[in-house]
Amino acid sequence: MLRTHTCGELRKKNKGKKVVLAGWAHNIRVFGKKAFVDLRDRYGVTQLVLGEKFKELYTGLSKDSVLIASGKVSVRKEPNSQIETGDIEVVVEHLAVVSKAKPLPFEVFNPEIESTEETRLRYRYLDLRRPEMLRMLEFRFRAEMIIRNYLLMHGFIEIETPYMGKQTPEGARDFLVPSRPVPGKFWALQQSPQQYKQLLMVAGVDRYFQLARCFRDEDLRKDRQYEFTQIDLEMSFADESDIMKVTEGMVNILYTQLLGIKLPKPFARMTWEEAVEKYGSDKPDTRFELLLRDYTEDFAASGFKIFEKAISKGGVVKGLVVPGILRKSELEKLEAIVKQHGFPGLAWLKVADRLSGPVASAVNDKTKKSFSKEKGTLLFLAGSWLEASLAMGAVRLALGESLGLAKGLGVVWIVDFPLFEWGKEERRLQSAHHPFTLPKTGSESVLFGDMVKEELLRIPARAYDLVINGTEIGGGSIRITDPVLQERVFELLGLSKKDARRKFGMLLNSFEFGVPPHGGIALGLERLLQMMLTKGSVRDVMAFPKSKSGRALMEGAPAEAEKKQLKELGM
Ligand code: AMO
Repeated sequence: MLRTHTCGELRKKNKGKKVVLAGWAHNIRVFGKKAFVDLRDRYGVTQLVLGEKFKELYTGLSKDSVLIASGKVSVRKEPNSQIETGDIEVVVEHLAVVSKAKPLPFEVFNPEIESTEETRLRYRYLDLRRPEMLRMLEFRFRAEMIIRNYLLMHGFIEIETPYMGKQTPEGARDFLVPSRPVPGKFWALQQSPQQYKQLLMVAGVDRYFQLARCFRDEDLRKDRQYEFTQIDLEMSFADESDIMKVTEGMVNILYTQLLGIKLPKPFARMTWEEAVEKYGSDKPDTRFELLLRDYTEDFAASGFKIFEKAISKGGVVKGLVVPGILRKSELEKLEAIVKQHGFPGLAWLKVADRLSGPVASAVNDKTKKSFSKEKGTLLFLAGSWLEASLAMGAVRLALGESLGLAKGLGVVWIVDFPLFEWGKEERRLQSAHHPFTLPKTGSESVLFGDMVKEELLRIPARAYDLVINGTEIGGGSIRITDPVLQERVFELLGLSKKDARRKFGMLLNSFEFGVPPHGGIALGLERLLQMMLTKGSVRDVMAFPKSKSGRALMEGAPAEAEKKQLKELGM
């Protein structure tokens, strides 16, 4: 036995006990003929007292060396209330320095001293030594256990589906793996288990779930990694309300058991249209108001030529009323945001004792009068409903942050998403969720009629997203089970019948052998944990994440392959 106790365990009641402790030398302080070493492991820190006979060992002992010490528990004269074992110390009788540590390459335990994220990731195993990080790993595991347990209780079966398969249409690029026995052919790492879980419904599994690793080759951001985990569900003979209920129960139990927070029951619901109209986003941050307003009517005959022109072309004017008068530098920051969204600039009006700003000099007296009832800084943007709303939504978020408006938790379901969206670059329809999503009943005539883009873009889907604090935590839908409808959707997305059969033949074929109505959802586990632990990035809730630039800095990957290997793969 290498130890009798952990470093977080001993208390006053253990006084006089002979113990063996093992861990890392967290802190070493030498006072005359004695040394005090704080021994650290995952469970805590215990003070060791080393007498003069250990002088040779403790002189020059480096921090984070691994020690095994045996000795007697003694009650401290001056307790340390900062640590849980602060009432006691261990007076060491035998000491072994098991592994000497070189000076650590960065200040692992001192968050005051900045170290680059690159260094932390390069030495991730050292960064993980921080108690906060070890707690995060434990929190994640507990969350996974709660999820598994909850879903077991609700009749779900966890089933592992292949990582290697055919391409999956989740909207990102696939990671391709060359096949050795079939040169020139590739496996695609699964972007999600979407098709497999639908096939499991055809198989009669009825309630499937999986903590599924997914792979997506997309530009990394604070809410995206190449590899991530989904809490992936699918249910047969179920509709939106069943799926939302199970999901809400699961998220609720996670918040209560892990954080002691009770979430509202049921979660709020908002249509996609309302979210875009009022919040300028399909993932609204509902922790603060500052809602978008429609000023189209106010500007229709305002004399403000650019806006009048936009309105006459079918556009709208979206606005925000910001309490207080914004400074020029603040307005410039907001303007930079709308420019990123492709708008030439942001129009503004300051309403105090008098009206000022570019809009004040451009509009006629009648319009000015109507605005003088407001107070603060008014911001306006004219354009198409969706684009102007989304750009104003980004301005709203920036203001929310700079004014510190967000309070509490904002949990909301967004429902009635459109089935399609317009892919500007590809100049064709794209699935707003994915192509297996069922349109709302009543839209069949539009789907099977002559293609009128505007009409198709208005078809609502039976899709829903779970949003927490302005982050999309998960999304799902009720699925198409009619092969004819599924083929038509593929066709509208630009896939010929032949291509659709080639790519999704297994699913289409399966629907011909008795398929139950079904639907499901997937929540991003890291995004949920990031939200629960209020971390800045999904990287902070993963043991070994990739860096922002998409590298595994510790392993030195991606790396070159050997010529021999490439040859074997026919490359
Ligand atoms: P979707 O593509 O919306 O749906 O993904 C579901 C959830 O997965 C998380 N997520 C990510 N997390 C980290 N890094 C990424 N790169 C990443 N991409 C997505 C998000 C997202 O909400 N098969 C469907 C689900 C279904 O219809 O049942 C799907 O994958 O939190």
